[in-house]
Amino acid sequence: MGIQESITKISSTAQEELFACQEAKEIELLKVKYLGKKGLVGLLMEELKTTSKEERPLLGKLVNDLKVLLTSQFESTLATLAAKERSRQLEAEKIDVTLPGRESALGKKHLTLMMLDEVIEILKGMGFTVQYGPEIESEYYNYDALNFAPDHPAKDMQDTFYIGPELLLRTHTSNTQVRVMEKSPLPIRIIAPGKCYRNEDINARSHVIFYQVEGLYIDSAVTFSDLLVTLEELFTKLFHKDLKMRFRPSYFPFVEPGVEVDIHCIICDGKGCSVCKQSGWLEVAGAGMVHPEVLKSGGIDSEIASGYAWGFGIERLAMLRYGINDIRLFYENHLGFLSQF
Ligand code: DAH
Repeated sequence: MGIQESITKISSTAQEELFACQEAKEIELLKVKYLGKKGLVGLLMEELKTTSKEERPLLGKLVNDLKVLLTSQFESTLATLAAKERSRQLEAEKIDVTLPGRESALGKKHLTLMMLDEVIEILKGMGFTVQYGPEIESEYYNYDALNFAPDHPAKDMQDTFYIGPELLLRTHTSNTQVRVMEKSPLPIRIIAPGKCYRNEDINARSHVIFYQVEGLYIDSAVTFSDLLVTLEELFTKLFHKDLKMRFRPSYFPFVEPGVEVDIHCIICDGKGCSVCKQSGWLEVAGAGMVHPEVLKSGGIDSEIASGYAWGFGIERLAMLRYGINDIRLFYENHLGFLSQF
């Protein structure tokens, strides 16, 4: 094939190949193939040396024209591709400034605190004021001042998180009782809400952390029926029902007599279900008349004053109210769960 034919052939294949190119890197390859050091146009230049002196100037011009043509075609196609890519990018980055903004989600109170607020509001309405006791507590206020025997099993490491000698994470809000007695004149009518900690296995029914609300009322002639009426009023208001309650004798070192307070199962209306373990009753609180020894720890003469106290868990009330069957949900921070309330 003569040089002239080669030029025509190379020119047309180059056009076809260029036409098929979609991306800049394909064109770069074509540039190498045709215009690179060992490219096809370069080979033609070599071949020129084998032609006669007469033909050479003309053929040389033709080869050079081919080189100029291909160079400009490659460059202009590259430029077109780059322009397309830029406008594609601009399109992708386009923002519609007239669109309404995205609202950022607002946080809200945790279910436990909502339940706690409700309890506090009801009790405030009944004349109680709120006092907060420490979560890091001495063994004295958590146990000894409350008439626990020195070898009481609850003091065991099994149940209590000790964080130093004589220092622990309070296991109940009853720790606040004697602290309040020590600093307040009678009558005392307080509630003490807050977090408590127990060294227990974590499962659907118990956790190492939970909220309680303690109630304490001490005056010259507080009676057991005052306790009864107060708790009845509280639980009726909380569960919005004509609630049935019962008190079962029980033992807590800091009260005498001590009781456990049950309400008629609000899930099955007392008929018996898995939540109330078929008994028709749900235990909701411990309570009793403040033990004379505890009054004594608080510097109060049991000859001139008497009092009642109670303590109950907040998560349990929320579980009953909303039919939640696993206390661990309160501490897992699942927004899907929490946002339902
Ligand atoms: N502190 C007890 C507990 O955590 C609950 C309790 C029972 C509190 C009887 C009281 C009470 O004030 O009188 O299990």
